[in-house]
Parts: sequence; C-alpha cells; structure tokens
Amino acid sequence: MNKMTIYWPPERLDAGIHEAASALAAGGVVAFPTETVYGLGGDARSTEAVESIFAAKGRPSDNPLIVHLADASEADELASVVSPLERRLMEAFWPGPLTLVLPVRPGAVSARVTAGLDTVAVRVPAHETARRLIAAAGCPVAAPSANRSGRPSPTLARHVLEDLDGRIDGVLDDGPTGVGLESTVVRVLDGAIHVLRPGGVTAEQLRAAAGPHVRVESADSASAEAAPAGEPAAGEESEAAPRSPGMKYAHYAPQGEMVLVTGEATAMRAAVQAAADAARGRGQRVGILACAEHAGGYRADAVLDLGSRAAPGEAAQALYAALRACDDRGLDYVVAEGYPEDGIGAALMNRLRKAAGGRILRA
Ligand code: TXA
Ligand code: MG
Repeated sequence: MNKMTIYWPPERLDAGIHEAASALAAGGVVAFPTETVYGLGGDARSTEAVESIFAAKGRPSDNPLIVHLADASEADELASVVSPLERRLMEAFWPGPLTLVLPVRPGAVSARVTAGLDTVAVRVPAHETARRLIAAAGCPVAAPSANRSGRPSPTLARHVLEDLDGRIDGVLDDGPTGVGLESTVVRVLDGAIHVLRPGGVTAEQLRAAAGPHVRVESADSASAEAAPAGEPAAGEESEAAPRSPGMKYAHYAPQGEMVLVTGEATAMRAAVQAAADAARGRGQRVGILACAEHAGGYRADAVLDLGSRAAPGEAAQALYAALRACDDRGLDYVVAEGYPEDGIGAALMNRLRKAAGGRILRA
C-alpha cells in the first residue's frame, strides 16, 4: 500500500469537503472528524472501498463497521425493520453519538461491512462537517475509527496521519473532536436496550429517553474486558447477551504495559505511586495518567493530567491523546487512575480497562 494521502486543512474546509466527497463517490477512503473520534470512511455499498478500509487499518475482517448517514430518514434504506423503541432512540439521540444495531435490509450494504452478520450498525453523527461530507458523497459511509487496529482512536487529524499516512486517500482536518470516545453501540432485543459498547450517550440518558418500563442492560464488565488480542473474552460464549464483535479485541492500548488502579481516592493514590515506584525500581520509564487534583502529587518520568475529577468529560476528551503521548515519550509502564463509573465515566473506564488489557489493581 503506497497512496498519496491528501491533507485538507481547516482553512480549506469547504473545498476539502467537496474533494473528499468526490473521492468517496469514486470508491476512495478518506478520514473525517465526527463528534466522537475521527472516522475512516468509504462507500458502504462498495466491497472494494470497504476492503480498502480493512486493509488500511489492518483490521480483522470479522469486526463489522458502523454505517454513517447524513439524515435519520435514510435509516429505513439500510434496516429491514425499525421498531417503535428504536425509532424513539433515533429521535432522542440523532444526530449524536448513538449507534443502533438493526436488522439489515439484504443487499443494502456490502456484506464486508456487516462481516456476514444479519444486522447493520447505523448512526447519524452530530458533527456538521461529517454530515456535509456524507450528504455530498451521496452514499451511506462505512467508517470505523481512523486508527491502525489496536491503537488509540484519533481525536486529531495529526493522529490519523501518524497511523495512516500513505495508506488512505486523504484526511479532512476540522480540529479536535468533541466527546473524545466512540459512540455508544446498542441493540434493542425483546423490548430491552442492550449496550454493546458504552460511549458518548450514557446509560442514564438512554434510561431517561426510553422510559421507566424499558430495561437497559450493559454487556460491559471487568471480566469481559480481560481478553488478550484476538482471544474471546470471558463470557463471550453466552448465547443470551448480544455482543459487539469488536469488544473482544485488545484496543486503545499504549505500546508500554498499562495498569489501571481503582478504589477510594486516598488508597488509590497510594497504590498508584507504589506501582509507579516499583516499576521505576525495575528500571522502567514510568508514566502516570491522573486527574488534575492528584497530578501534582505524583513522582514519575511523566505525569499526564486528564483534567478535573469533577468533570470526567474532560478525561474522556483527553484520554486517547494522552495514550499516544505515552508512546511519544517512550514510556514502557503506565499507571492510570480509575474514575467513578456513572455518566461518561462508564465509557471512560471501559476504554481504560481495555487499554490496560485487563491489568487492574484494586486499592
Ligand atoms: O464513534 C464511533 O462510533 C466511531 C466514529 C468514527 O463514528 N466509529 C467507531 O467505529 O468507533 P469502530 O469500527 O472503531 O467500532 C465499531 C464497533 C465495533 O465494536 C463493532 O464490533 C461494532 O461497532 N459493530 C459494528 N457493526 C455491528 C453489528 N452489526 N453488530 C454488533 N456490533 C457491531
Ligand atoms: Mg475503533
């Protein structure tokens, strides 16, 4: 693979959208911002374009892609049937960081998009540039996060180029993304909402929109996160709980080893410092990911401040860039503080557990 990757800067956004849309319509693959992370888009109907996405990312072919639409009205072209509850979720959260897994209308997208499943994941992004691009391209746009498989997702165009320069047709730079973590992936089954991947829309928001009679079930748990790359996670065999194929892969990880420390603040701080000191004692270069309130008190080769503990949305925005910074600084051991699991904290902790590959220390 040796492509000439075009960079469309923020100053040339209008021309960039136009050129990127032409590239998509011609079967090319281009990266673009969404409100969650940058995506790598291609025409979802074109098997060739979709294969280029998998090849550029080095993504396992059994991991299906999310199809992005410019408008919710187009969902019926992809889904064979949409239930009233699914319709209610679309109305409540689209455009926005919610992905719905729906029964696929046969032939609506390439079978490579759905990895042969009988469902298709669909979302309408809240980012103006993303929607303008998709509308101009005139096709449903399959788009995974625009990172090499296994790397943290990109929240800046620079991250996309770090991973994919020379492997894709272009990247549309429109500054930093908003949420910083991916969309929430849900499937409605038997009248209950199953969260396959926690993300930008919180379980609390889903509950509020769905009403008191609808169950909201989380597939996420510490044990389900502990699988090494390519290995099925614990509980993966369970027939009852629908799962997102992508969640079984190791993800979002820095190149160094990472450990996640959870527990009440005082004990957690002591355990973080002890883990860092032990690693330094072994001669490793050690980094700590911490909230602003605690960052100043730690000793390590690098302390990365993820923002105020009172505002976990800041940590969500900062996390992936911080994981990339750990690699840039050549850290070989990273200790991360845990966060409360309510609101966006659930998605944040899901990604931290995955980045740590299941290495969790309960203080
Ligand atoms: O925020 C996001 O969702 C970003 C931006 C670019 O939109 N996209 C993204 O895509 O995170 P990706 O490919 O990195 O993650 C898609 C997730 C994977 O866990 C995949 O297994 C799951 O969605 N998924 C896709 N199609 C599915 C299906 N038919 N059934 C169950 N899970 C599905
Ligand atoms: Mg991804």
